[in-house]
Amino acid sequence: MNKLANRFNKHVYEVAVSLIRQFDEQVSSIPDILKLTLGEPDFNTPEHIKGAGSQAIKDNYSHYTGMSGLLDVREAASRFVQEKYGVSYQPLSEVLVTVGATEAIAASLLAILEPGDKVLLPAPTYPGYEPLILLAGAEPVYIDTRETGFVLTPEQVDQAMATHGEKIKAAIITSPSNPTGVAYNDQEIQELAAVFEKYPVFVISDEIYSELNYETEHVSFGKYLSEQTILINGLSKSHAMTGWRIGFIFAPAELIAQIIKVHQYLVTAASTISQKAAVRALIQGIADGEVMREEYKLRRDYLYEAMNKLGFEIARPSGAFYLFAKIPEGFETDSMAFCLDLAQKNQLAVIPGIAFGPEGEGYIRLSYAASMPQLEEAVKRLTAYMSK
Ligand SMILES: Cc1ncc(COP(=O)(O)O)c(C=O)c1O
Repeated sequence: MNKLANRFNKHVYEVAVSLIRQFDEQVSSIPDILKLTLGEPDFNTPEHIKGAGSQAIKDNYSHYTGMSGLLDVREAASRFVQEKYGVSYQPLSEVLVTVGATEAIAASLLAILEPGDKVLLPAPTYPGYEPLILLAGAEPVYIDTRETGFVLTPEQVDQAMATHGEKIKAAIITSPSNPTGVAYNDQEIQELAAVFEKYPVFVISDEIYSELNYETEHVSFGKYLSEQTILINGLSKSHAMTGWRIGFIFAPAELIAQIIKVHQYLVTAASTISQKAAVRALIQGIADGEVMREEYKLRRDYLYEAMNKLGFEIARPSGAFYLFAKIPEGFETDSMAFCLDLAQKNQLAVIPGIAFGPEGEGYIRLSYAASMPQLEEAVKRLTAYMSK
């Protein structure tokens, strides 16, 4: 054993390799496997945005930007969220350009958390949050949302606050949600905002799927609780730009002033070339997400109906590109065993719900960021599996 192998920050040992990755590796070697596992758009970045990126390279945008990002990007991002979601943030002091939503979440959590602090997480949850909370020496407090339609309720917040008190520093809300696809409606956000307002708690609102909302207008937490909200967004999903690594934090100036220090020492600034492409995406590409949204909606409707016919009960599938489906009675309810068996016998890979915490057990997550012919083939394989 390397004599340094046990000399790391003790919290690093608490962080496990993601179950999604483990599962993906396990099934990838199966011949002819069809995967509905991916959490990223199957679309390519629109041509005009790629053109802006190429031009930026030619024009020598190869130097650092200021740590909060190019003012052009911050202005365009501020206009984008104002026009789309009716929230107002000053480009000079209330917007930060980050390396994807991931860095936005990391910088926010590291800026807020101290050892012993607690963070409320409605569960099942996106697995990217817990490791960052643990690395900060803090602790996640999971709130089971299975009985409330995968939506956190004001009563649950009050109850958690009564139990854990001041130790709770933050809550992370994801709407539309990965893994459930559920989006909070206006009333739900308003009621949650009213309850959080009673407590000195940061609300980290991960709205990375805001452009992929199929039923209603997206409602931003920033609209009803701007003072406490750290609003996270980015271009990964809205513009199929996962690899460009552009995210945003929108928050009151006093909060940005602290978070920006962590951001600076983690990354200095987001890629300058990507930032130039981001300006194009946010201005000329303001409607790019709509074309993709229409296509995702068709796929969602197709897959939802097919899965329903097969006996899967599915959470309100209003946003993102996931269906979170309960394994029907009579089948293996250990989600890992179910998914491995499905992959081995019928060459279809979907993510076991347990990857999103114990509250996800008994469910599977399907991503419809896949082409229609792939989805049709997936339904064929699932039907064959379920009718055995
Ligand atoms: C809920 C959620 N937040 C954040 C991210 C990360 O986004 P980015 O690629 O912009 O870092 C993802 C990616 O799948 C996600 O599902």
